[in-house]
Amino acid sequence: MPLVTTTEMFKKAYQGHYAIGAFNVNNMETIQGIIAAGKRTRSPLILQISQGARKYANIIYLKKLIEAAVIDAPELPLAMHLDHGDTFEICKACVDDGFTSVMIDASHLPFSDNIALSKKVVEYAHDHGVVVEAELGKLAGIEEHVVNDRSQFTDPDEVEEFVAKTNVDSLAIAIGTSHGAFKFKGNAQLRFDILEEVSKRLPNFPIVLHGASSVPQEFVDMIQKYGGNVQGAQGVPEEMLRQASKLAVCKINIDSDIRLACTAKIREHFAEYPAHFDPRQYLAPAREAIADMVERKIINVLGSQDKI
Ligand code: G3H
Ligand code: 13P
Ligand code: ZN
Repeated sequence: MPLVTTTEMFKKAYQGHYAIGAFNVNNMETIQGIIAAGKRTRSPLILQISQGARKYANIIYLKKLIEAAVIDAPELPLAMHLDHGDTFEICKACVDDGFTSVMIDASHLPFSDNIALSKKVVEYAHDHGVVVEAELGKLAGIEEHVVNDRSQFTDPDEVEEFVAKTNVDSLAIAIGTSHGAFKFKGNAQLRFDILEEVSKRLPNFPIVLHGASSVPQEFVDMIQKYGGNVQGAQGVPEEMLRQASKLAVCKINIDSDIRLACTAKIREHFAEYPAHFDPRQYLAPAREAIADMVERKIINVLGSQDKI
């Protein structure tokens, strides 16, 4: 089937109390690993492209790779999504480029400016059959375009007005997750009370969780064992993600876990085969590690298997 929007995926996920994985893609092996996992589990998938990914790969390469994925996996509902677009122009470029979903991240702007920019993107996107995710509240952490030292939880008092005035299709909220592999210093804590309050105010409305990698210990250990240093890396416990996907969370964003799986496997490979220098020798196992990680995530955390 051709690329789809997230509308149907989110409707079914909301009603079925599971979530769709939104996986960041930057190159061929990552896309192939994610698609392999989707095929094994018969799961819908969101492939998301950040502004950094656009710059790294040149968007035409990623677009063509995703077109190839559609041909390779005709049975899977696949959405192509812009992750963290921060201007009208970048969102428009993606709509014009065939993306089926875009995120306008104006969460760093004052409330009224966030509304105005998100609304403008929604009007253009909806005119072209594309859906829009926006964000309220701020996640801690560093991304190429959005740098926040401290998180600022979403205020449930703002969500109804925001959604009514912008007409967005889904909303990312800040409840204590953060981008990257170092999410918590002590015990992981998420503000489920905010999630529950937001979902009461927005019945049947899909909520998005960014910064939702779980940072599997096995990858941290492998990276440490084979000469890397990611000591202290900690993610969102899988149990919390399962709980969130049973509530209103319909989209769970995962990038760091892909990076960790890939890096751990490549480090292991180089340690075991120091004479290898053909990239296929180490990228093939890295691709398989990504596929296995995504497969486990779909089955053990998201619950989106057999939902095509
Ligand atoms: O939310 C951010 C994603 O992990 C993308 O990261 O901007 O480095 O591609 P990036
Ligand atoms: P992680 O860094 O937890 O994988 O989050 C990715 C993300 O939110 C992409 O938008
Ligand atoms: Zn994000």
